[in-house]
Amino acid sequence: MPGEDEKAETLTVEDLSVHYGGVCAVRSIGFSVAPGQSVGIIGANGAGKTSTLKALMGLVPRSGGRIRFGGTDLTKVKARDVVRHGIGYVPEGRHVFPGLSVEKNLMLGAYARSWRDGGTGEALAEVYDLFPVLKEMRSRLAGALSGGQQQMLAVGRALMSRPRLILLDEPSMGLSPKLVEDILAVLVRLREEGLSLLLVEQNAKLTFEATSDCVVMENGEVAMTGTSRELREDVQVRRIYLGL
Ligand SMILES: Nc1ncnc2c1ncn2[C@@H]1O[C@H](COP(=O)(O)OP(=O)(O)O)[C@@H](O)[C@H]1O
Ligand SMILES: [Mg+2]
Repeated sequence: MPGEDEKAETLTVEDLSVHYGGVCAVRSIGFSVAPGQSVGIIGANGAGKTSTLKALMGLVPRSGGRIRFGGTDLTKVKARDVVRHGIGYVPEGRHVFPGLSVEKNLMLGAYARSWRDGGTGEALAEVYDLFPVLKEMRSRLAGALSGGQQQMLAVGRALMSRPRLILLDEPSMGLSPKLVEDILAVLVRLREEGLSLLLVEQNAKLTFEATSDCVVMENGEVAMTGTSRELREDVQVRRIYLGL
């Protein structure tokens, strides 16, 4: 069981690569996320962002590299057990179950917690506190929610396992500018709750606002790293990622 000191867990990624057959999607990247830190990975479509998160979750084979979360070597942890180590994952495209109610979708996020641990009702109350709209709609089918609400549901589901680090894959994808603002508010709230965030986005503007530090990925490699504030002022970043 996670002890008090495990709350101070840093995610450290070194020399990580991902191959699909002969194709190298991620090439020897490295970064870290300290407890309570919010880190962004920005990059164009195909840059290797999703593959990076999937590699952290053990969902694609890692061809080399080290991934540590606190005292745990994540390369030795099976995909189905990563959540138990305190890492929540909000996949690209949300993947909520449209034919199940909002509440059932949330309860599925608690699967990694043993029922003996209890706390599921408490976790549900916290998620409803964070997203009152999900509480209002708890008996509705997830498929009946708007895109923004489904994204909140996907985040809420990940929170049900009470993670200390949450990985988010393009939460703003397909959302209107107004809903992107709502997502930003959610991310800020998660940060205030003390969670560590790793946010993967094509939306650089959102990412710079939501994070303290960023990694720019190009063609599977780390092209730049810096504070979000520095990168936002970088001439090249402004041209390529902010269209300014
Ligand atoms: N299952 C897969 N099989 C083969 N190639 C893949 C697969 N998934 C992704 N790729 C390739 O890996 C590269 C990185 O993809 P991805 O990690 O999805 O990037 P991003 O999330 O930044 O858009 C792309 O060239 C993509 O075509
Ligand atoms: Mg992707």
